[in-house]
Amino acid sequence: MSTVVALDIGSSSIAGVELKTARERVTLAKAAVEPLPPGLVHDGEIVRPDELAAEIKRFWRTARFSGKRVRLGVANQRVVVRTIELPFLDDDRERRAAVEFEAAEQIPIPPDQTVVDSQPVLRFANEAGERERHVVVAAHRDMVDGLVATVRQAGLQPTGIDLEAFAILRALLPPPMVIDEGSSDTPAVAVCHVGAEVTNMIVSVDRRCHFTRLVGFGGSHLTTAVAERTGLPIEEAEAVKTACGLLGDPLDGWDADTVAEVRHALALGARPLVREISRSLEYYRSQTFARPIGSLVISGGTSLCNGIDRYLQQGLGIPVVLGDPAGQLDSGGGLTPDLAARAAVALGLALDAPERS
Ligand SMILES: Nc1ncnc2c1ncn2[C@@H]1O[C@H](COP(=O)(O)OP(=O)(O)OP(=O)(O)O)[C@@H](O)[C@H]1O
Ligand SMILES: [Mg+2]
Repeated sequence: MSTVVALDIGSSSIAGVELKTARERVTLAKAAVEPLPPGLVHDGEIVRPDELAAEIKRFWRTARFSGKRVRLGVANQRVVVRTIELPFLDDDRERRAAVEFEAAEQIPIPPDQTVVDSQPVLRFANEAGERERHVVVAAHRDMVDGLVATVRQAGLQPTGIDLEAFAILRALLPPPMVIDEGSSDTPAVAVCHVGAEVTNMIVSVDRRCHFTRLVGFGGSHLTTAVAERTGLPIEEAEAVKTACGLLGDPLDGWDADTVAEVRHALALGARPLVREISRSLEYYRSQTFARPIGSLVISGGTSLCNGIDRYLQQGLGIPVVLGDPAGQLDSGGGLTPDLAARAAVALGLALDAPERS
């Protein structure tokens, strides 16, 4: 039996998931989410490492995760993701060298300052012959080093770091059926993980990432919109936002005028999200290899905002569904919808662990 723990350190919260694998069955052993004090992490980057290390240490102890080994995710402006296209190469070494060469051309950071990773996402043929597309991820080395140092300061041992977008796809989408893999009929699925400050926008085919972009929008912007409209302080605006949501039945304990005001503020405040998702989908659709987009799957804390699925569906004109990370586990007992939405990244990070298989 093997055990894997992964942490997702966000701007408003820290989420952790522990998975156990025995006889090829993957079981949720633990999942936890705790709020983080504001200001330790901003837009996906660590701002106050010492305080964050203390919080991570406390979180790990309280949740009673096993061991000290941990997998981590990154998503911030210091990670560059590009798609490159190359002639198909059978030889792994030649292919790696070609990807590295092309990546160095396309990524605007000196190679000695980056940590680069890549994965093939699509093989196809055109008039130039057999081709392959790769997603290349280049992270600033000092950002990665800073994350590793903070987690070590918390007494833990980082064993792997992955792009959040890849983890989100593993958490929310089933692995492709082998028989369908590579089929040109498979539609694309868009995925949008909306946190407190940032949104991971992804378009995938067969669970592979064909496009991803980090958008500087999250639930904190909705809270601010509510605070500005109602004049309430931020903490109260947060509570009333969560209680009202965008749609739904009238609520006990809130007068109808306040609910209407809050919903109006949320509807206006969420417009940039619709705009950014639309832009991403349009960009994807403009590429020659694009497939029709069948649906949008949402996750992250802000996906819990009542009615946001219907709101996005109306704005985007495609079906929108709430992601269900428990679907990727053989036994996901204990994963409530609230935990599932907020621990999706951590779960996807834990699903990747090579030590599991
Ligand atoms: N029921 C709910 N209704 C509306 N918003 C909610 C609800 N539950 C959580 N949220 C919002 O979700 C956000 C937190 O989500 P999450 O835990 O995914 O963020 P994070 O990982 O800390 O942030 P980020 O990834 O952006 O750094 C907050 O803005 C919070 O207000
Ligand atoms: Mg997050």
